Amino acid sequence: MRRKKLYINTIGCQMNVYDSEKIADSMHPLGYRLADSPRKADLIIVNTCAIREKAVQKVFSYLGRVAALKKERPGLIIAVGGCVAQQEGAHIMKRAPCVDLVFGTHAIGCLPFLVDRIEKKRNRLVDIKMEPLIEEFDGVLPPRDKSEVSRFVTIMQGCDNFCTYCVVPYVRGRECSRKPDKIIDEISHLVQNGAREVTLLGQNVNSYGKKEGLPEFTNLLDKVNTINELKRIRFTTSHPKDLSGDLISAFGRLEKLCHHIHLPVQSGSDSILKRMNRNYTHSHYLDKIDKLRKICPDIAITSDIIVGFPGETEKDFKDTVSLIKAVGYDGLFVFKYSDRPNAPAARFSDKVNGVDQDSRLQQILQLQETVTLEKNRMLVEQTTEVLVESFSRKPGKGPEPIMGQWTGRTSTNKIVHMPASGDSEGNRGICKGSLIQVTIKKAFGHSLWGLPAESGTRIVCGPKGESCHAA
Ligand code: 5AD
Ligand code: SF4
Repeated sequence: MRRKKLYINTIGCQMNVYDSEKIADSMHPLGYRLADSPRKADLIIVNTCAIREKAVQKVFSYLGRVAALKKERPGLIIAVGGCVAQQEGAHIMKRAPCVDLVFGTHAIGCLPFLVDRIEKKRNRLVDIKMEPLIEEFDGVLPPRDKSEVSRFVTIMQGCDNFCTYCVVPYVRGRECSRKPDKIIDEISHLVQNGAREVTLLGQNVNSYGKKEGLPEFTNLLDKVNTINELKRIRFTTSHPKDLSGDLISAFGRLEKLCHHIHLPVQSGSDSILKRMNRNYTHSHYLDKIDKLRKICPDIAITSDIIVGFPGETEKDFKDTVSLIKAVGYDGLFVFKYSDRPNAPAARFSDKVNGVDQDSRLQQILQLQETVTLEKNRMLVEQTTEVLVESFSRKPGKGPEPIMGQWTGRTSTNKIVHMPASGDSEGNRGICKGSLIQVTIKKAFGHSLWGLPAESGTRIVCGPKGESCHAA
């Protein structure tokens, strides 16, 4: 069989990253191997995200660029998958005539078959039907030639929550959970191939298995916690309305569960939360945060915020700012509200103008920047456990040559860089996948810089491009 090259451009969330890995694996039998550039590819797959308007624009501008490649090489196959494919269907082919295949979020399992048909018949295909069950989840294992320390594992797909701004239930379909045995098999396989950390993915992990009558999410966590050689477990995302006492207590019980939770609040205003159909209030949310911190005092908390949701007044915005201040987040993702097709809020009146949206976005970003930095600075001179994820070779700049830099993360999900001076690999007993004690020496806006506690390596120079705020 002729060896062919596949290039995947993944736009969007971790779930898309996971789906892209599955796609790469499923194309092996057709002779496709991953290429590092679209210029070398026989097949380009764009795995898309439709969650916000900006992401959709990104997809079409990328398609504009690859259309030029297709002019040079008419045999090139271009496929669009994921949420934009599901949402736009055949419309994509009209807007981007270079596209040969549009496959929806439930058609990943059919992809080899669809590509094979296009190779043989050179016709253009659209497959966006939605199946109630996701059969391709069974039996597809990720590529064997990967040895990344931290991997994603999707445990459920779709969502039944219907937040009024959100397109996910329409493009990913109804909630559907994988069987625990399949998940455990997949994680064990990843661990045998070098993974030491897994992040369990679902739109709302708290409702894992409920529909199917499977054991609950905390039960799954208990099982994952027993996998030998696996050192860390993360999960995302948990809906605040469903964050159970049982899951909160898991942070105190399971030694491998990392001390970090992403708990999207979206707004701090009770009336906006109601219009968003979120089913919790400002004070319910703060109550969950208190409970989390009682069980796990050093837990890092991050969140998503939407500013400028239809009808959001200055008073509503102030309630959001006050919630952000009350929680003291470790990090925030802030988005300007945008209309999404099918999502009810697109039909809401009293839209907030772009100038107010921009101003609110900036106010929150500035507030959070200070808080994140402050939190990072509090870690200086503390020793903390870091899972080493990667090594990069960088030329030395200081009086002593730096052979390279290790990068890892704390249990609280903060990125830590460490110098590797010494032997030729800059190793000193550290390797990808090791859990080491690191003393934090410097704090930056988006990362920390430290020294392995046992090695006593001297700091030669910090990472480039960020101002230093060492205490
Ligand atoms: N407009 C702006 N932000 C949105 N998000 C989801 N839908 C929209 C929208 N229509 C944000 C939410 C969600 C994150 C993944 O994207 O904050 O948690
Ligand atoms: Fe969208 Fe709400 Fe479901 Fe999250 S919980 S995916 S925001 S509908």
